[in-house]
Amino acid sequence: MEGNNIPLHVGIIMDGNGRWAQKRGKERSYGHKAGSANVDRIVEHAFTIGVKSVTLYAFSSENWARPAEEVQQLMKLLAHYLKKLTAKAVKKQIRLNVLGAKERLSADLNAVIEKYTAKTAMFTERNLNVLVDYGGRGEIVRAARRAAEKGEITEESLAENLYTAGQPELDLIIRTGGEIRLSNFLLYQAAYAELYFTDVLWPDFDEAEFDKAIENYSKRKRRYGKVEC
Ligand code: FPP
Repeated sequence: MEGNNIPLHVGIIMDGNGRWAQKRGKERSYGHKAGSANVDRIVEHAFTIGVKSVTLYAFSSENWARPAEEVQQLMKLLAHYLKKLTAKAVKKQIRLNVLGAKERLSADLNAVIEKYTAKTAMFTERNLNVLVDYGGRGEIVRAARRAAEKGEITEESLAENLYTAGQPELDLIIRTGGEIRLSNFLLYQAAYAELYFTDVLWPDFDEAEFDKAIENYSKRKRRYGKVEC
């Protein structure tokens, strides 16, 4: 793989935890645990091969509609794994950002998020974005409001007010779990991103599967609407 064919910014829709558990005759919660544990190795691997920003869809604005018990478990897992990810981010000099409305999170979880992300706020080279209480439409509305407050709404001013402002353009979106849709993930940033869908369920998506996605990406011709010369 050519070094310059490594995507700078990769977004991941980590789908399939529930089905992974059901296939094993277990509760969905078992799948979420396995899915959370999988985050660590994929993040480590992505930064090792040269990716500069990784954005993970951890909890969408729509996920609040899941059964209360499942929501509670996901929040617990988030708090637990954010701590682990912070330790890794500090060691590897990666900025950890938890992005989303976050208004409906408990005050405790918001305080924990503040505490952890502050430990990595000095790093500028690489970003690990965890989307929590996030929706792409909501992000665009928020960005438009902020841009309007400061002046004119243009493509540039809108982009400057997205959660991912200042980070490399989104190059690649990976969705595991077999569905072929974006589900409100990084809608504005996705304009020219390459899309990679795989049937592999998130807990089974290992480094070799990640490399398959990168290899597939590296062969794509990106034209951004222009004709090839
Ligand atoms: C989709 O599987 C997965 C989620 C809604 C949650 C994703 C969250 C994690 C992997 C854990 C927390 C993340 C971090 C960063 C620590 P699903 O339940 O929709 O699976 P299904 O489609 O098989 O039902």
